[in-house]
Amino acid sequence: MKALVLNGPNLNMLGVREPDIYGRETYEDLVALCKKAGADAGFDEVAVYQSNHEGDLIDQIQQALGTYDGIVINPAAYTHTSVGLLDAVKAVSLPCIEVHISAVEDREEFRQISYVRAACIKTITGEGLQGYAHALRLLADHLQRG
Ligand code: DQA
Repeated sequence: MKALVLNGPNLNMLGVREPDIYGRETYEDLVALCKKAGADAGFDEVAVYQSNHEGDLIDQIQQALGTYDGIVINPAAYTHTSVGLLDAVKAVSLPCIEVHISAVEDREEFRQISYVRAACIKTITGEGLQGYAHALRLLADHLQRG
């Protein structure tokens, strides 16, 4: 069982970026957390990828087909703008869970829209980096149920 964790723009700046909202842990901490949580949830492999470029994220989703069993995605700002990411997740038909570190529902109006959500089996918000661990557990449960 293999999972791909995808992170969108500015998430490489974790720890530096708006720490009151996103916390003080770094992107490297997030990668380590995902690998550990994924192994604990029963994944043989968890790949963690970050890009500031929408097309790179779309390429990663397309290439996941046949390699990974499911996707955890935090599209970051592209959550609120990208039909391309939505279409990519729909195209591969892999189970996908949307994660946001912050409670987007309690933030600005423009963060209330998520395009990718329509292709996701679950959305997790406001749990900090632990939201990724939660998502990986849910994804493993989903995959194991067949
Ligand atoms: C975010 C929320 C988005 O609105 C924002 O653009 C991000 C991070 C989150 O994880 O809380 O970059 O996806």
